[in-house]
Amino acid sequence: MFKPPSNHNFSASFDAVLAERVSRRQLLTSAAAAGAVGLATTSWGANMAAGTTTRATAAPLQGIAPQTGDALVLAAGYRHSLLARWGDPLQRGDAGLRTAALRTNDWLDDSAVDAQQQRFGTNCDALAYFPLRRTRRNQDIQGYLCVNHEYVNAELVFADYAGGRRSSMNAVEARRAWTLAQPHSVAWMQAAHGVTVMQVRRGMRGWSTIPGAVGTRRITANTPCDLSGPARGHPLLATAADPRATTVLGTFANCAGGKTPWGTYLTAEENIDDYFGRGASMLASTADGALVEAYRRIPPPQHSIYGWEYLDPRFDLQRNPQEMLRHGWIVEIDPLSPDDPPRKRTALGRFKHEGANTRIAPDGRVAAYMGDDEIFEYVYKFVTRDAFDPGDRAHNRDLLDHGTLYVARFDADGTGAWLPLVHDENGPLNSRAGFHNQGDVVIKARGAADLLGATPMDRPEDIEPSPLTGRVYIACTKNAEREANETLTLLSGRYLELAANTANPRPDNRSGQVIELIETADDPTATSFSWHVFLLAGDPATGRFLTDAATLAAGSLAATDTYFAGYAERADVSRLHCPDNLGFDPSGRLWIVTDSDGKDWPNNGCYVVPTEGAERGRLRQLMSAPTGSEVCGCEFTPDGRTLFLSIQHPGEGGTLEQPVSDWPDRGGLPPRAAVIAIERDDGRSV
Ligand code: FEO
Ligand code: CA
Ligand code: CA
Repeated sequence: MFKPPSNHNFSASFDAVLAERVSRRQLLTSAAAAGAVGLATTSWGANMAAGTTTRATAAPLQGIAPQTGDALVLAAGYRHSLLARWGDPLQRGDAGLRTAALRTNDWLDDSAVDAQQQRFGTNCDALAYFPLRRTRRNQDIQGYLCVNHEYVNAELVFADYAGGRRSSMNAVEARRAWTLAQPHSVAWMQAAHGVTVMQVRRGMRGWSTIPGAVGTRRITANTPCDLSGPARGHPLLATAADPRATTVLGTFANCAGGKTPWGTYLTAEENIDDYFGRGASMLASTADGALVEAYRRIPPPQHSIYGWEYLDPRFDLQRNPQEMLRHGWIVEIDPLSPDDPPRKRTALGRFKHEGANTRIAPDGRVAAYMGDDEIFEYVYKFVTRDAFDPGDRAHNRDLLDHGTLYVARFDADGTGAWLPLVHDENGPLNSRAGFHNQGDVVIKARGAADLLGATPMDRPEDIEPSPLTGRVYIACTKNAEREANETLTLLSGRYLELAANTANPRPDNRSGQVIELIETADDPTATSFSWHVFLLAGDPATGRFLTDAATLAAGSLAATDTYFAGYAERADVSRLHCPDNLGFDPSGRLWIVTDSDGKDWPNNGCYVVPTEGAERGRLRQLMSAPTGSEVCGCEFTPDGRTLFLSIQHPGEGGTLEQPVSDWPDRGGLPPRAAVIAIERDDGRSV
């Protein structure tokens, strides 16, 4: 039975699970060096859902100015520790990657592939912390950290790598020749992708990993994953190697993520099309109309940008035409069950998933909010059929297999509707439209959403419900293709209006916006909502600085106009470009990390903005990241004293031979992505 949010006690259920799966001795052994701190009750799931977060006092923050150097810069009063870099060991007895060896490719052999499978992967992205131990004063000192490894910058790993990530024919030919000459390169890249589950602890000198701790595992582009939900067994997902469509090898392109109230990790498969080749020629030659339609809204390219199809036939769509349809899902991983396979939860739809963040409804059902990160794509929500039971972990295991997937329509009057993506012979998603069952609907979720009239957005990235207010924040990172005037286009078989609208109000939108969505009756299972623009990102020092929401109508705005939730002091507000991942601290402030590739703009960073009170909209910058990197993750420990961030792709834009960054190892060594832990010098909440 579900208990109301105010009575949630995730700790009790977690302790039972912990006792069952992780012996106390194992915990203590793995924590032996964590310092002489008393063991207190663990608090699994605390801080994860509505009603469970207590309002803590937010520490004052003196923001920093935008930066342009190859350095990680923090506001005064803060420090950081390096938690894990690409190549760092996850098991005992491994010294980890020696990046000095990357000057030639002599290291690239079978043993390098095996080693990478046991080491921290490349380009860390989403972060999710699950507490294991706290002090008697409820300070977090040990937990699981789940980390996505989205992709590889091959030009920063391999010597003389050719072709980069470019798509010109010259680049494709160069990449093909290089890849064929390095027979271990693809297997190595596959081993560097996916997810890391590891334990971390806070000692006297800050946070560190615990190599070899119970539950440590790497999930890669070749790890068997269970297909579950309505597309399990669907003929479109069947391959020669898996004719029953039940088990997919691997998860990759894992971007942002999220957590469930029952203590599992959700990882989002995003740019899956970058990994497949010979897709265009396969579609041109096939007589299978259903296959062509299944690929219509996420078309496969002729040439991948990683070259995997040259060495691994699974990524050659001419040889395995349906393999790409098996990717593009939300994948659930249970850090407490290291022998359980990752599960691709197909009920949540197939698109370029950015993340999935959950909230518990008053009746105990759970909503997951999701963005589809491509220009003119949609905002989605999944609502479980059954209620979450904090006392019954087995009951919760497959909650994400049954429920309703919705897509959002934002109306000009500030209201909106969640449109159900449900197969129905009496509705638009019927067999005459190519939807014979719910499996068809989730596999072709974008096409189904088109038919319902969803609102095409400016690249929806992370979507986070506030744990305090329940209001939902949607980061739309940018869309330079947004037009000022009505421009109807036929694209991938859909008629698309490119003109600015009230939810995407700026043409040539290079800096992005954040939308604030309020569910009807504050119920995340609602099918209607109200909404308004929370931020129009950009540089408040240039262009118009708007403070009146009534002035935000589409058609009247320029690309350089900014708006910070009505906050009136232009000089107090930091500039912001391309919001990507979002997070909340325990005091309820919204945190934003950015991914701009604007060469004319300062480095990416981490920002905080209150959503309540007199300071609502006063955005300040906490941190600036090194050259070439974006910032991801944005995950707090439940005590609010630690902020984990991913510094992804430092040095992007350079190569091993012509580097633009040597962060974090310095001394001219190759750059590597890393997770950092930020704390205040005085130990208070971040
Ligand atoms: Fe991988 Fe949408 O950022
Ligand atoms: Ca992202
Ligand atoms: Ca991004």
